[in-house]
Amino acid sequence: MEISKERKKIAIVTGASAGLGKEFALQLEKKYFLDEIWLLARRAEPMKQLAEKLQKAKAVIIPCDLNSDSDIRALIDKIKRENPAVSFLVNNAGFGKLGPFTELTEQEQMQMISLNVTALTRLTHSILPFCASGSCIIQVASSIAFCPAPFFAVYAATKSFVLSFSRALQFELKPNGIHVIAVCPGPVNTEFFDVANNSGFMKNDRVAPKTFNHALMADPQKVVAKALSDAEKKRSISIYSFSINFFARIVAFIPKSIAMKAISNRY
Ligand SMILES: NC(=O)c1ccc[n+]([C@@H]2O[C@H](COP(=O)([O-])OP(=O)(O)OC[C@H]3O[C@@H](n4cnc5c(N)ncnc54)[C@H](OP(=O)(O)O)[C@@H]3O)[C@@H](O)[C@H]2O)c1
Repeated sequence: MEISKERKKIAIVTGASAGLGKEFALQLEKKYFLDEIWLLARRAEPMKQLAEKLQKAKAVIIPCDLNSDSDIRALIDKIKRENPAVSFLVNNAGFGKLGPFTELTEQEQMQMISLNVTALTRLTHSILPFCASGSCIIQVASSIAFCPAPFFAVYAATKSFVLSFSRALQFELKPNGIHVIAVCPGPVNTEFFDVANNSGFMKNDRVAPKTFNHALMADPQKVVAKALSDAEKKRSISIYSFSINFFARIVAFIPKSIAMKAISNRY
């Protein structure tokens, strides 16, 4: 699709009220010329605070629940009405719930699939016609995408979907000059584990000295900086840190039963 000069250049960032999404908005604004950054999440207040920090691009705050069909429709209608040139789509909104599959509610599992898989796929499909050569789609997956994860079973499966989908889409869209990258971080210091562990499944005394200690988690600024740098280099996957890179490589070779035992021992 040809993008005329009059169309505004925008970035769309989902899950922009916290964590990685907030960082993506800040760093995209610093790094690129964009007329607007559309910020999407349910909580408006943190997005208003973020908007005050954006100086070059206009922040457009769109409070919405991406698990709601009508909210997604309203967003797609807005895009069609305004016909922007989407330079970046960052499909970042997502959540996970830790616990035995049988103990998590059906609603929790379905909402994970709805947000992490359905909304991401729907937005990608609806927004792609507004992308052109040079546009970039950033799909936030996880390092857990590389291996089935007991007690994080549905979450890990949703992220495997994101990784597989992103890689295939990258192949399909390469001739059009549209880049797709899957971001696969290990534990990052955001609100993610407060949401994931709100049932208290992961016990602090067992967890504190291990990987899920907040102090040992990756810095969201660094994860996003690496993702944007990898996107510029046209890499199809971005993995922050040596240890997570090692994990991603090793699980491809060792029997999944051994990998799953190691993963489940961490809780
Ligand atoms: N942190 C980690 O350790 C880690 C590791 C690997 C991958 N990831 C992935 O990174 C992405 C960002 O997570 P994060 O670490 O930044 O976690 P976070 O701090 O909890 O942020 C999650 C974001 O998603 C938004 N969100 C949640 N449900 C939503 C809904 N129904 N509709 C719209 N927005 C919704 C939240 O906003 P509202 O609550 O305001 O709606 C928030 O802005 C997720 O896809 C996550 O799976 C995180």
